[in-house]
Formats: sequence, structure tokens, C-alpha cells
Amino acid sequence: MKNVRLVCIGAGNMGTAFVKGLVDAGLLLPSRITVTDKTQRRLTHAHRELRVKTSRDNAQAVKKANIVVLAVKPQILDQVLTEIKATVAKETLFLSIAAGYPTGLIENLLGNKARVVRAMPNIAAIVGQAATAICKGKYARKRELNLARKLFEACGLVIEVEENKMDAVTGLSGTGPMYVFIIIEALSDAGVRMGLGRYESTRLATQTVLGAAMMVEQTGQHPIFLKDLVTSPGGTAINALYSMEKTGMRAVLMEAVETATKKSQELGRPFNNKHD
Ligand SMILES: NC(=O)c1ccc[n+]([C@@H]2O[C@H](COP(=O)([O-])OP(=O)(O)OC[C@H]3O[C@@H](n4cnc5c(N)ncnc54)[C@H](OP(=O)(O)O)[C@@H]3O)[C@@H](O)[C@H]2O)c1
Repeated sequence: MKNVRLVCIGAGNMGTAFVKGLVDAGLLLPSRITVTDKTQRRLTHAHRELRVKTSRDNAQAVKKANIVVLAVKPQILDQVLTEIKATVAKETLFLSIAAGYPTGLIENLLGNKARVVRAMPNIAAIVGQAATAICKGKYARKRELNLARKLFEACGLVIEVEENKMDAVTGLSGTGPMYVFIIIEALSDAGVRMGLGRYESTRLATQTVLGAAMMVEQTGQHPIFLKDLVTSPGGTAINALYSMEKTGMRAVLMEAVETATKKSQELGRPFNNKHD
């Protein structure tokens, strides 16, 4: 990691969350990282918060980089790749986090057998707790995939998947923090409705989600088994569960993930067609 010079193109929500994860974990010194953006306000914020270098010139910034993170919206990735194509070094590793955008198209646009790893992290990278899936393109080697894994592990959990599963990953964990934020907010509202203060209700709801998630993670038990630990006969939990089942809570979540997955497929469609 000592010789890594990383440039993150796009200092938006996800780009800065990833960079913050790297810096907070101590994996890379801020002086080894440059973030670029079109908006000066975002760059000033990134420099102030993370002490990283900043630039508004993508082509110039990538010149000495050995890792380039592509953290712009998929709709403008073509334009960014065209901008940097002439100035990137051949050995550069490209880490793309753009939803729906296939590795094959990045390789085609950059030429030179570009080494590409595609990743789908989530916004919890900001607190080092992201869930990230990675896959490699045609020319990236095992060592580049391992390097990508190491970088994303600084931000949380990493798993490897086939590229054709990336849209489903986007629907589940890429979008996932939003589902949980809404669940926490709804639980907090529910507590307030039952007479708790907002502050205590939100704290209790948050810790409950955190604690339940840690139980699943640390015990390795199936969630259904853990559910049985809470649902005593004729008790509060089994009655609450009956109420949840009547409202179709599971179907609501399954449908949300399906909708987000389809949206990711849709975002990728124009690029996939171009790739055909
Ligand atoms: N947000 C998430 O939770 C999440 C999770 C996983 C993956 N992703 C992926 O991460 C990528 C970024 O998403 P985001 O939510 O971080 O979006 P975002 O907040 O809009 O960030 C994108 C940034 O790129 C900047 N930008 C636009 N054109 C540029 C250019 N030519 N050169 C350099 N920077 C440029 C934008 O500036 P302007 O605002 O001025 O246009 C913006 O600051 C997307 O591809 C998305 O699919 C996001």
C-alpha cells in the first residue's frame, strides 16, 4: 500500500464515503489520495474533512495514479473515461462503483487492456461498515482483485460475485441502508406513538437494529432461529409478528429490492447495448 497513489473521480456521497473509509482505517495516508470533482464546494469540503488533495482536472489528476476510482454517476462515465483515456498509465487499476455500468464497456472505452474491478459498496463506508460486492473485468488479474478487496475491506465487509449478479447486489445492499433508515424511522415513530420521547425512541430503535444485526452476524444462526428466541408462547413478539405478516412486511421488502434491481438493470441497459 505504501506506493499507492489513488485518485477518486467524483467527490459526491459515495466517493467521499469510500475515501473516508480508507483514511479512517489508516490504509492510505490522505497525502496519497486525490479527489476530483466539477464542483469546487465538494472539493473544499473533502479537503477540510479528510485532508486529501483535490483537483478539478481529471486528465491531469490521473497522470501519476496507480488506482483510479470511478465514482461519478453512470450517465457521465463515458465522458469521464474519454477525458482520462490519454493520460492514464497502462498499469492503472480502475475501480468502478457506478451502478449498472459493465466492466466490458470501461475496457472498450479505455482500450489498452485496461484492468478493471467493478464494485458495489454502500454508504455505510462512511463508518467503516459497508457491504461491498466486487467482480473483475477481463484483464484485471487476481492480484488486482485482491488489492480492490483490501481497499474495500477498510470500509467493511467484501464478497466476490459474478458480474451478472451486480444488479441484484445493487438492489439489496447497495440500496440497503435506505431500507434500514426507513425501518429505524418507522420504529422510532411507533415508539413515539406509544408514548416515548423522540430521542429515546430513536436511540432504542437504532440500538435494536444494531444489536439484532450483530446477533445474526456473530452467532452465524439463521434469523428464523433467533426470531424463535424472542417469540415466547402467547407473548408480545408473536402477536406483533402476526400483525406484521398481515400487512405483508416481507413482500414489501422483497418488492423494494426487486424494484431497485430492475432500476439498476435499466441504468445499465444503454451501456450494455453499446457493448453488444
Ligand atoms: N450513493 C450511494 O449510496 C451509492 C452506493 C453505491 C454506489 N453508488 C454509485 O456511486 C456513484 C456516485 O454516486 P453518488 O451517490 O456519490 O453521486 P453524487 O453524490 O451525485 O456524486 C457524483 C459526483 O460526481 C461529480 N461529477 C460530475 N461530473 C464530473 C466529472 N466530469 N468529473 C468529476 N466529477 C464529476 C458530481 O458533481 P455535480 O454534482 O456537480 O454533478 C458529484 O459531486 C454512482 O455511479 C452510483 O451508482 C452510489
